[in-house]
Amino acid sequence: MTSAPAPASRRDDSGHADVCVLVVDDDSEHAETIAESLRRTGYRTLVAGGGKSALETLESEHVDVVLTDLVMRDVDGMEILSTARRLHPDIEVVVMTGYASVESAVEVMKKGASTYLKKPLNIAELRTVIEKVVEKQNLSRSNLFLHQELDRKFGFSGIIGDSEAMQKVFSTLQAVAPTSATVLITGESGTGKELVAKAIHRNSPRRNYHFIPINCTAMPEGLIESELFGHEKGSFTGAIGARKGRFEFANHGTLLLDEIGDMPLSTQAKLLRVLEERCVYRVGSNVPIPVDVRLIASTNRHLEEMVREGKFREDLYYRLRVVTINLPPLRARQSDIALLIDHFIRDFAQQHGRRIEGITPAARTSLLAYRWPGNVRELRNTIEAMVVLARDPVLDLKDIPEEIAERREAAAPGAAPVFAGMTLERAEMELIRSTLEMTRGNREEAARILGIGERTLYRKLKEYKLGDVGKGGGEA
Ligand SMILES: Nc1ncnc2c1ncn2[C@@H]1O[C@H](COP(=O)(O)OP(=O)(O)OP(=O)(O)O)[C@@H](O)[C@H]1O
Ligand SMILES: [Mg+2]
Repeated sequence: MTSAPAPASRRDDSGHADVCVLVVDDDSEHAETIAESLRRTGYRTLVAGGGKSALETLESEHVDVVLTDLVMRDVDGMEILSTARRLHPDIEVVVMTGYASVESAVEVMKKGASTYLKKPLNIAELRTVIEKVVEKQNLSRSNLFLHQELDRKFGFSGIIGDSEAMQKVFSTLQAVAPTSATVLITGESGTGKELVAKAIHRNSPRRNYHFIPINCTAMPEGLIESELFGHEKGSFTGAIGARKGRFEFANHGTLLLDEIGDMPLSTQAKLLRVLEERCVYRVGSNVPIPVDVRLIASTNRHLEEMVREGKFREDLYYRLRVVTINLPPLRARQSDIALLIDHFIRDFAQQHGRRIEGITPAARTSLLAYRWPGNVRELRNTIEAMVVLARDPVLDLKDIPEEIAERREAAAPGAAPVFAGMTLERAEMELIRSTLEMTRGNREEAARILGIGERTLYRKLKEYKLGDVGKGGGEA
């Protein structure tokens, strides 16, 4: 039999009213007495007059702590313990026993009970024990929350971003990293292609072997082949000794072919052969050397177009793009800019031992409005310079490098059309409107950028009839 939870007591300010304790004992009177003493300290309680009814309660109710008798007629405390942990991994179970032998106590603790209490119970001791158990639970729950929060911000392996585009990238990464599939990463310069390639390697079973990047740009044909595949002694002028290539170095690991669009056509043919045969041939040798390498290729060029123009082998292109990850330019990921600004400020302040506490809303808005042609790399360098050169603990407009402040005027499509000569009210309205457009209607973010509370923003949206801005709807 299970009684309904007692209403949270009004006079309770212990914070316990959020905590639900299930008391289980087939001596229902005893169970009720214990529950009553816990209710008096402010806990919500459920009472089960036997093991079976306890299992039903666990299936249907949210329970934080179970206080159960160990020896019962139908279902015993051990079984309650294991079912409770299976259904609610973070539940705390305290066992009461009238036969407090060392063995039974050790056994319940091994199975995951938080602690045990000897019958007859001492009410003061009971309250202290429950209090401690709840405290421990709160701590581990808030740690879990913190981790989830961190994961959201740090997306995947130190890649920061919470834009929709990056969420998609993260879920592809999660699926593809543990496999050996070839991955093609595309994106403008500075969007994080190499960072993503490293994240794939670090999250793959190959993580304990090498991650070897090689940049195909500006490498003459002969050199790139000897770099990739190695060479035998005397295979060309200057080949004094035999040398391993990057494929051999990367054996069991990951090879990143950076700027694969710049690879000469003849080398592309040889690369294809390696991928198909899983063997390399050193320059000047016919002996196949087996290699087990995961290949990641990256480029900021349009490979499909290059294929049409005959500058990139079609068969290699299809071979590489088994999984494609496209990193959008930073200007198309406004919410990531905001996140990255904060991240880089913290990071560089620490790295350079500067006490920088943050950035003013005006300076943030200005950075958000810039086009960032050099993407994350440019933003990173900009923030580093600002942190190093700042004279005050809060970064402001005056700290933004001139080139960026100047180019922003011309290049920012979302910049607020605020002019001298406007009323303050009009300027405020324009600023709110363009900030909302910038955040694509995300009010929480807009409020943060504007440095006002969300409720204030709501009030102003109503006042200026800007409710639909950024959501693709009409506006005032
Ligand atoms: N999402 C991100 N979070 C944190 N740092 C990032 C992110 N994207 C890029 N970076 C940082 O920006 C810099 C440039 O990134 P990366 O070298 O990976 O770019 P890339 O696309 O390979 O550029 P390029 O085409 O010029 O080689 C690096 O310092 C990298 O750590
Ligand atoms: Mg790169």
